[in-house]
Amino acid sequence: MSENKDQGTQYPVDETSPKREMSRRQFLSYALGGTTAFMAMGPMIPMLRFAVDPILQTKGEADWVKVVEESKIQSEPQSFKFQVQQVDGWYESTPTLEAWIAKDDSGNIFALNPTCKHLGCTVNWNNPKFPNQYYCPCHDAHYTKEGKNLAVAPAPLDQYEVKIEGGFVYLGKLHPNEIVK
Ligand code: FES
Repeated sequence: MSENKDQGTQYPVDETSPKREMSRRQFLSYALGGTTAFMAMGPMIPMLRFAVDPILQTKGEADWVKVVEESKIQSEPQSFKFQVQQVDGWYESTPTLEAWIAKDDSGNIFALNPTCKHLGCTVNWNNPKFPNQYYCPCHDAHYTKEGKNLAVAPAPLDQYEVKIEGGFVYLGKLHPNEIVK
């Protein structure tokens, strides 16, 4: 046993014990520091919320985009470009997207995303190497007209939501291919 003379007060200290007692000065400085930090955070909370608010906002349903007159769609896939409004946090942009739109055997209109499901290159329709198929030049993946993956790619081409309104084709969100599964 020895005595702690640090604070002017003498406390007996058991040197054989692995625990160390907190001095009154340490306790006061921790308590004061914690209170000061808590009070300083108060005005910062609204600022923090203001800064991250757009990131926390849930994005609404994707808007439908008017792409092309319904009468222009044939059974042979055709490429159409369209722009979408995108909000990513504070950053707003209008990227141009592409869809290959065609009619199936029953006359229903469907639209595929040309992003190859292997590593993301862009596919094209009716390449001489693979006639009447989508073909990706990067590693030779190819797909049927409905987007079914025939080689290299692990999954079918994604599909856009489609609606017909007032004689126009509108495209919505992208989702996994439901025609071929
Ligand atoms: S990215 Fe299309 S085949 Fe590899």
